[in-house]
Amino acid sequence: MNQQWWKKSVVYQIYPRSFMDSNGDGIGDIQGIISKLDYLNELGVDVVWLSPVYQSPNDDNGYDISDYQRIMDDFGTMEDWEEMLAEMHNRGIKLVMDLVVNHTSDEHQWFIESKKSKDNPYRDYYIWRKGKQGKEPNNWESAFSGSAWQYAEGTDEYFLHLFSKKQPDLNWENERLRQEIYKMMTFWLDKGIDGFRMDVVNFISKAPDLPDAPNTEGKTYVSGGDYYMNGPRIHEYLHEMNREVLSKYDILTVGEMPGVTPAEASLYTGSDRDELNMVFQFEHMDVDSGPGGKWNVIPFDLVKLKDILTKWQKGLFEKGWNSLYWNNHDQPRIVSRVGDDGKYRVKSAKMLGTLLHMMQGTPYIYQGEELGMTNVKFGSLDEYRDIETLNMYKEKVEEGWDINSIMNSIFVKGRDNARTPMQWNADMNAGFTKGTPWINVNPNYNEVNAEQAIQDPDSVFHYYKKLIALRKEQTIITEGTFDLLLKNDPTIYAYTRSFENERLLVICNVSSETQKFDLPEDLDPSNASILITNDERTIEENVRQLKLTPWEAVVFHYFV
Ligand code: NOJ
Repeated sequence: MNQQWWKKSVVYQIYPRSFMDSNGDGIGDIQGIISKLDYLNELGVDVVWLSPVYQSPNDDNGYDISDYQRIMDDFGTMEDWEEMLAEMHNRGIKLVMDLVVNHTSDEHQWFIESKKSKDNPYRDYYIWRKGKQGKEPNNWESAFSGSAWQYAEGTDEYFLHLFSKKQPDLNWENERLRQEIYKMMTFWLDKGIDGFRMDVVNFISKAPDLPDAPNTEGKTYVSGGDYYMNGPRIHEYLHEMNREVLSKYDILTVGEMPGVTPAEASLYTGSDRDELNMVFQFEHMDVDSGPGGKWNVIPFDLVKLKDILTKWQKGLFEKGWNSLYWNNHDQPRIVSRVGDDGKYRVKSAKMLGTLLHMMQGTPYIYQGEELGMTNVKFGSLDEYRDIETLNMYKEKVEEGWDINSIMNSIFVKGRDNARTPMQWNADMNAGFTKGTPWINVNPNYNEVNAEQAIQDPDSVFHYYKKLIALRKEQTIITEGTFDLLLKNDPTIYAYTRSFENERLLVICNVSSETQKFDLPEDLDPSNASILITNDERTIEENVRQLKLTPWEAVVFHYFV
């Protein structure tokens, strides 16, 4: 079995609700995805990661699953899904499904049973505790604001929910539950899927006594992350899952893991460890967050970003495997976050693509990133849909935050930035739906859309297509060692990749100003070529210093 295909693959994430609507109900669906597979084929991606399409009451857009083995009515039927898989495979595209097993929906049959009585056979599938002096069992805070515990009258106990109160956490200590999950995973793998992206999978093992988290700020609820991230039995569980399920298939596995370090990630992804292939780490997504968390927006710091990504590139080299991402359905758009989404939108989007795609790891592209899609600023809160954003708004108003600063945090960090409909063309609703979209379209779709991008040879789309193709052609991108240059430079991001006597020199200007860059001594322009650039640059012999134009990216390829 060739287990390494995922090292040379580029993954494309589809958020189905916002990708393409085929039936005019305003919600993206599976037939919509099928109609766009030729587009993905043209882009050249190898794998699709599909965010959840399972039966769900949509408290958190499908991350609250009420039946793991049924397709959500909004999205279509199991026959549609099977057709989609076949059509992907016909085009040589693999399918990775989302696996959400830290929690279910409270409308899942297991939970409906579990809450009935303390002696129900499903009681122990979830995490129930008595209150303490009339209050919650501990002070942990939910990721979506407020306590992580919800009181249930019937049995006078609380259940744990690290996300919304409609997403009760599963109890992985229960072996019967684990076996049910493995059975469900096998059901999908036997249908022929090519892997799983595992939602917050490093949260599944909680500290057994669920202790209070230290509370230095005197708040009612505080992050209890230290007691459930990378918990005591996590490696045991993943190892067991690997033995019972994953090892039997030639698949890609990626664990979403907030709070993971490179040292832990090399345990999760080490080739001799039999757990997962790679993880999604979050450190580089927190560069613009202050001590108060994601909504506490601070200026983006390039030196900090370099430090973090270097640590990951070096830390996993020959020990594990990196995933590379700027975007997903939970993150604001990178061109707005780090680039310039105005005058230099196209150029800075290409620069950011270069910066990431020349590193070691498996790149993930989030729908619309290949078009340089941007954040959105809706005029009023009514236009926002995300539970995290809406709960946060309520909480901050109660805490006395000023409305403008709340709205500003939403503009910069809100998840709906990534969830506005995919912009296909300049028709009504960006060609996403003939009905009323479930969330409004970004008003810039007249200029930013796939139809325009395909016609324009200088678009972000064609540039990403080239980045994807390069990964297939150049072994050095997959295998080379990584070295950072100009560690403390606040605007230039430069690094080398080395493989035998071959070198790549990646130079990115992360600013709207011109910058100077001195070429390293081992680079002789007469034997170098340019692998890719977002500018007009050509090789000039005898030139030792480059003047980088705003947001320029250039990759030199040479031999020493
Ligand atoms: C991470 C997912 O990416 C996010 O969208 C979701 O809200 C939480 N996990 C809970 O499932």
